[in-house]
Amino acid sequence: MQAFFFIAFPYIALILAVGVGLYRYFSHRFTYSSLSSQLLEKRQLFWGSVPWHYGITLILFAHLLPVIFPAAAGAILGNHTRLVVLELTGLALGLYCVFGIVGLVARRVPTGSAARAVTSPMDWILLLVLAYQTLSGVGIALFERWGAAWYLSTAVPWLRSLVRLHPDASTVIGLPVFIQTHFISGFLVILLFPFTRLVHVFAIPIEYLWRPYQVVVWNHDPQPPHAPVSPVPVAAMPPTPSESTDKERRQLLARLSIIAGGITAAIVGIPSIGFLLGLRKTPETWRSLGPVDSFPVGETTAVSFLDSSPLPWAGVTAKTAAWLRREGPEQFIAFSINCTHLGCPVRWLPNANLFMCPCHGGVFYKDGTVASGPPPKPLATYPVRIREGAVEILTSPLPITTV
Ligand code: FES
Repeated sequence: MQAFFFIAFPYIALILAVGVGLYRYFSHRFTYSSLSSQLLEKRQLFWGSVPWHYGITLILFAHLLPVIFPAAAGAILGNHTRLVVLELTGLALGLYCVFGIVGLVARRVPTGSAARAVTSPMDWILLLVLAYQTLSGVGIALFERWGAAWYLSTAVPWLRSLVRLHPDASTVIGLPVFIQTHFISGFLVILLFPFTRLVHVFAIPIEYLWRPYQVVVWNHDPQPPHAPVSPVPVAAMPPTPSESTDKERRQLLARLSIIAGGITAAIVGIPSIGFLLGLRKTPETWRSLGPVDSFPVGETTAVSFLDSSPLPWAGVTAKTAAWLRREGPEQFIAFSINCTHLGCPVRWLPNANLFMCPCHGGVFYKDGTVASGPPPKPLATYPVRIREGAVEILTSPLPITTV
């Protein structure tokens, strides 16, 4: 079931968003708007729309940037002060968005309100999903703190694996259900995108920046006395040549968009179906960590190594870290650096002989078992072996089972 929600569902959402979005754009281009009700309820709209749009745009960037630049995000979050500042900023923006979405929903609730009249059933569904997304985000910020840190080691690898068409949900499958529903509803928003007013995000009127200003005159009289009455029903009039050409062009573009959607579906669908059927296996490779003698007996050392299948452009993001402990002349244990609670990187405290998780205070003994705090199970371990005087580690996806 989790494989469906974290592997198949994101691709389904993306395929529908691209395919149906393109189709709607080319066949019903004038519906690419939010059906603006600014002229109907300007004041209520301001208090809902402005906080919502500013808040959600910044939050969206805060979620996307670590996926695009994980190494830079890791470097920024490595400083405690910066982490606290980002955490508080995120919470403030989340509350700002809650204020906005409450305003956007409230203005539609009264029967007879002008905004309600231009809200479709799908828009209501979208608003409810967005409200859940925002409230659950604030809930996570409040009750699962240091999300900026653990997001980097849980959601980011999963999202990057989806982009690489090599889906791997192992880093999110163990997360609390509350956090998982936040991720899933994020993709639900993407799925709803082409069926609702959300399409207006791609109808940003940039040309307003340079076009000459317009004077809009409000006509208070819905039926002016001089309004001409058309003697011929519009439907009965034959289409002009330019209307026919326009119709053909739209039909052609609609067909092209269906083809583009089909190609997109094939590109992302075939690898993910292969993965779900178990046809695609994550490769495992032994990587050398260095000569045996470079690791003193009884000590725990940070080591880094390359993924089993690094992409040529992956740079430092292809590197993984682990804690290597030498128990005896030929006994080594390699611990995953990720805490088993929410995946924050644990630190080794040599004086205390303990691993400490900075996010929620999880503590592990030197053998990886839980000493205290919220982690539900011991630190995961990698298989280790000695070959020709060097310590080698078996790269594998998380979570790594204890061996
Ligand atoms: S991530 Fe919560 S205690 Fe480690």
